Amino acid sequence: MNILVTGGAGFIGSHVVDALVDDHLITVVDDLSYGHEHHVNQEAIFLNLSITDPGIDDIFVSGNFDAVLHFAAQKGVRPSFDDPVFDAELNVIGLLRILEASRKHNVKNVVLASTGGTIYGEAQEIPTPETASIDPQSPYTITKRAGELYLRYYSNRFGMNGVTMRLANIFGPRQDPAGEAGVVSIFIERLLAGQPLTIYGDGNQTRDYLYIDDAVAAFVAVVDQMGSGIAGDYNVGTGQETSVNQIVGAIERVYGNPIEVKHTEAIVGELKRSAIASQLFAEKFNWQPEVSLNEGIEQTWEWFKSGGFSVDV
Ligand SMILES: NC(=O)c1ccc[n+]([C@@H]2O[C@H](COP(=O)([O-])OP(=O)(O)OC[C@H]3O[C@@H](n4cnc5c(N)ncnc54)[C@H](O)[C@@H]3O)[C@@H](O)[C@H]2O)c1
Repeated sequence: MNILVTGGAGFIGSHVVDALVDDHLITVVDDLSYGHEHHVNQEAIFLNLSITDPGIDDIFVSGNFDAVLHFAAQKGVRPSFDDPVFDAELNVIGLLRILEASRKHNVKNVVLASTGGTIYGEAQEIPTPETASIDPQSPYTITKRAGELYLRYYSNRFGMNGVTMRLANIFGPRQDPAGEAGVVSIFIERLLAGQPLTIYGDGNQTRDYLYIDDAVAAFVAVVDQMGSGIAGDYNVGTGQETSVNQIVGAIERVYGNPIEVKHTEAIVGELKRSAIASQLFAEKFNWQPEVSLNEGIEQTWEWFKSGGFSVDV
């Protein structure tokens, strides 16, 4: 297949490209605002362009794409509080430009990376199924939800196969610890720099941590089954709650020494608990997470320790 991957220089997108590039023709569009060009697989075509650029339509003219995997986004909850306008320009208008171009140029398959970790708010049922009520509590989550609804509209109205992947907290090599990124990469980077770890609140807040290889396998499974009958909104996670304190414990095991931890005030409005049920996705796409938290943390630790972002890997 001929596939466009937006945000393909980023954490998740670059790994997905690596997994697809042997069997598909891959074009990556990324403006490198957060991503890294050296993470873009050399076998892929790379275009340094913003998805908010009206010229994005041009690449669809010659692209002849069968599918779009859409990762490009402002991905942080906290930055979205500070600048909700930027968040919406990128996560809503940027997505709309991709959807409009897809419609005009007859791209039938669009996959959206959405958020399973925040979309249900403080859910009643954990692990939370897709049938639970949606309760976005940040501009970021509102724009992701808007994206899901736009994708559904394009699917219903124009016959697209729109697949929304409500991802858990993905972690692994290449996750950028700068700014508000995943807690695993932030903690590992600080440890390697000899700095203490900071936990907001008591550290008992839980999330659903899915290792990058399992997330990649989920996207590959969707690409493998691409076609009619797959449209929908799917949770993609482990169903397991893990607290920040447990993450510290798992990192401590690979570090081999006690870790110094500082606690600061809890972040106002931060969710206390989150984990998502992925049975729907697992059954439809014959997928299961296979990498344990400890294994994933070990792999991530090794990557950062062997150079991480400072080495071209
Ligand atoms: N990492 C997670 O745990 C997680 C969880 C749920 C959802 N998601 C979603 O998955 C997607 C990928 O997340 P990630 O962790 O890989 O983030 P990332 O920041 O590493 O990747 C996003 C990529 O998009 C690119 N980008 C940003 N603005 C762009 C623009 N205007 N034009 C073109 N490219 C642009 C960035 O340069 C970056 O390479 C995002 O949509 C995010 O919201 C991630």
